[in-house]
Amino acid sequence: MGKDVIIACDFAGEEECMSFLDKFTEEKPYVKIGMELFYSAGPEIVREIKKRGHKIFLDLKLHDIPNTVKKTMAVLSSLDVDMCNLHASGTKTMMEFALEGLTRPDGTRPLLIAVTQLTSTSEERMKSDLLIEKPLDEVVMHYAKCAAEAGLDGVVCSPLESGKVHEVCGKNFITVTPGVRFADGDVGDQVRVTTPEKAKEIGSDYIVVGRPITQSEDPVAAYRRCVKGFIN
Ligand code: C5P
Repeated sequence: MGKDVIIACDFAGEEECMSFLDKFTEEKPYVKIGMELFYSAGPEIVREIKKRGHKIFLDLKLHDIPNTVKKTMAVLSSLDVDMCNLHASGTKTMMEFALEGLTRPDGTRPLLIAVTQLTSTSEERMKSDLLIEKPLDEVVMHYAKCAAEAGLDGVVCSPLESGKVHEVCGKNFITVTPGVRFADGDVGDQVRVTTPEKAKEIGSDYIVVGRPITQSEDPVAAYRRCVKGFIN
């Protein structure tokens, strides 16, 4: 399985996103489309970016009753995305239904990964708001195990957790990790961050990088710096 750098294209609309992608004349980076862009530009944006030759991680984080998730996954699968996701807290049944919906008649399907606990959720909040008493780390590993048992391909987690997820769920279970920053860059609102080099060392399979590339004065150079640190 190939390691890759995924650019989080967190733009408000199609025009902004396309003029950003136009800067990449020599490479076709893996692109993450999140809720903001998908809800503003609609499914057509997925087709457009795919047509340009990019791989797509559609980050819509589904969480609903199993039947609704299954039918929605069938729609996303027909958009020909390469990776999509859901919340592990929707239960193993929901994840199993999602896989069914995602699988095309010819047996192929996009990768399906689960969000464990959002990196914005603190242990304190998890206890007070969600009434989950276990340590956050244990909860993340348990959700990862449930996702693996349901047949999913991997999880979204902090790069600092990817080593442990591989220990618990196996080397082939994919870890997709946001929260990546250059050693000399701004951290912004991310808390548990690490560099592309360190993410490689700990064992992330894909790093998701947004602002360090999108807000850079030279996005192509910033992307190449990520590739150099993480892959080469
Ligand atoms: O700009 P930045 O590099 O922080 O972007 C990280 C991307 O990863 C954003 O699109 C954010 O929504 C997403 N993400 C995250 N933490 C998670 C799940 C997704 O930062 N736990």
